[in-house]
Amino acid sequence: MTTTRVRARGEDFRIVQLQGQLLVCSKANGNCCCGWEEKGRMPFPNDLWSSEWERRRVRNQLHLTFTGCLGPCAVGNSAVLLIHGRSIWLKDLNTADLVTRLFDYAENMLGSGQVEPAPPELREHIYERFVAPPDAPYQPLGDAIEDDGAGLDRLDPVCLMDVDPATARWKTDHDGRTYYFCAPSCRRTFLADPAAYAIA
Ligand code: FES
Repeated sequence: MTTTRVRARGEDFRIVQLQGQLLVCSKANGNCCCGWEEKGRMPFPNDLWSSEWERRRVRNQLHLTFTGCLGPCAVGNSAVLLIHGRSIWLKDLNTADLVTRLFDYAENMLGSGQVEPAPPELREHIYERFVAPPDAPYQPLGDAIEDDGAGLDRLDPVCLMDVDPATARWKTDHDGRTYYFCAPSCRRTFLADPAAYAIA
């Protein structure tokens, strides 16, 4: 086990250094989409993730954290695996088996000490959420689909989900433009402070 000393509030603390951290978007933390059955997502209990994590005894290598919204709600259930300095974003984790496969993948990388190619069963669930760091060799892990950037004005300005104006149930006009929302909660948030969300 590797540790480091970290100073806080005038004291030194010993902190165990890890190989990684798994962040899972959880309905329990007030998110807006992942785990919501009415939005077509698997209503997983946090226990599913915790039990897989505990049974593998990787607590001192990989920390598990349940978060609120991670951002890419449209493709949830979402998670991000930070491991060996790399961020691996996961989407559409809507079967229990995928949770097990993800832990298998993480455990494999903890064992090998490096980022490994995604296994076939996870490959279509991995994508690049962040732009590649400048001047660094960077190997995308998922299958990239090119986006021409058209239709950005369709994005829900609060959760950044793509909303079809033809079928949008929630919308509002602001500053000469119509905004579309995926859910009434996003519309309410926008109306409370339009300037904070209005897309230039
Ligand atoms: S609610 Fe899960 S990514 Fe936004």
